[in-house]
Amino acid sequence: DKGNHRHFMAKEIHEQPEVISHTLSNYLDMANGRVSIPDLGIDLATVPRVTISACGTAYYAGLVGKYWIERYARVPVEIDIASELRYREAPLPEGGLALFVSQSGETADTLATLRYARANGQRIASIVNVRTSTIARESDAVLPTLAGPEIGVASTKAFTCQLSALACLAIALGRARGAISEEQEQELVSALIEVPRLISTMLVDETPYVELAHLLSKARDVLYLGRGLSYPLALEGALKLKEISYIHAEGYAAGELKHGPIALIDEAVPVIVVAPEDDLLEKTISNVQEVAARGGQIVLISNADPEKIGCELAAHIKIPDAHPLTYPLISAVPVQLLAYHTAVLMGTDVDQPRNLAKSVTVE
Ligand code: F6R
Repeated sequence: DKGNHRHFMAKEIHEQPEVISHTLSNYLDMANGRVSIPDLGIDLATVPRVTISACGTAYYAGLVGKYWIERYARVPVEIDIASELRYREAPLPEGGLALFVSQSGETADTLATLRYARANGQRIASIVNVRTSTIARESDAVLPTLAGPEIGVASTKAFTCQLSALACLAIALGRARGAISEEQEQELVSALIEVPRLISTMLVDETPYVELAHLLSKARDVLYLGRGLSYPLALEGALKLKEISYIHAEGYAAGELKHGPIALIDEAVPVIVVAPEDDLLEKTISNVQEVAARGGQIVLISNADPEKIGCELAAHIKIPDAHPLTYPLISAVPVQLLAYHTAVLMGTDVDQPRNLAKSVTVE
């Protein structure tokens, strides 16, 4: 049932405040400002490395997880897409933790990589949305996402719920290792608790996206840029757009721009920049100016004052001020809505895009 929405994807985007809240409440002791994740059956204080693997959008959630775990827990994290990790036969450290992220829990490559990790002595944990799935059953520990059934083929609410669980895991690891103090834990937990409300404020008025859809729908190529925690969001934004609108889109780390993709930029190429006000904003601004100098049409997704950018913007999508930890969750919503409204304008089958299946059970 789509409720009063035109597509399941729209309904699922709008469900995010509620399902993120559910997922967080599973991993947070809200009253005391603490995280409480299930026992993973491994000593979090001494785990030598975390290896994360997944496919598609779940992989991008894992990439955010890597940045969080490295930043807040100072544990080395390796990450690779499942179809690569399993075949390159990556060496895995003794006593390591392998973490798999999957909405369906049935993705063939992710499952095969899980089995590879088990055969190589890893403790297996998974973040899955379907509790009864094969990946959940074959894991030593499961961190469920409580997104509810996701019908739209393009993943939206499962992604932000995966991020919610990963943030809690990063904080738990950070506490276990003494990388963050109890006060810092409380600060991070309060920041997460704010997320559902902040996302609600972004779902009130979608007219800016409807207008921007006109710009994007005329483009042959669209570039998404982000740095640090926003880099995986640039990748996710590009994936969402290509999946449902069939417009060619690429996500790039902002710092890589001058190493190649800048050659693509001219007046016909919209460049979507995910750049919340964090400690990397200044660096990203210099990349934006390089794009502007070549006539690219810049769509800025940020809470920063556009005056700071120092160049003309085709559009500015304003996001709310938030704790730096939470910007990946906040920025997910505008990239989803941009893809959704572009696809709606173009008249594609938003919930059932061509050539795609909800669950990829063959490799
Ligand atoms: C993108 C999308 C896919 C899935 C990928 C993994 O919108 O839905 O990229 O994220 O096929 O699927 P799960 O999470 O079920 O393992």
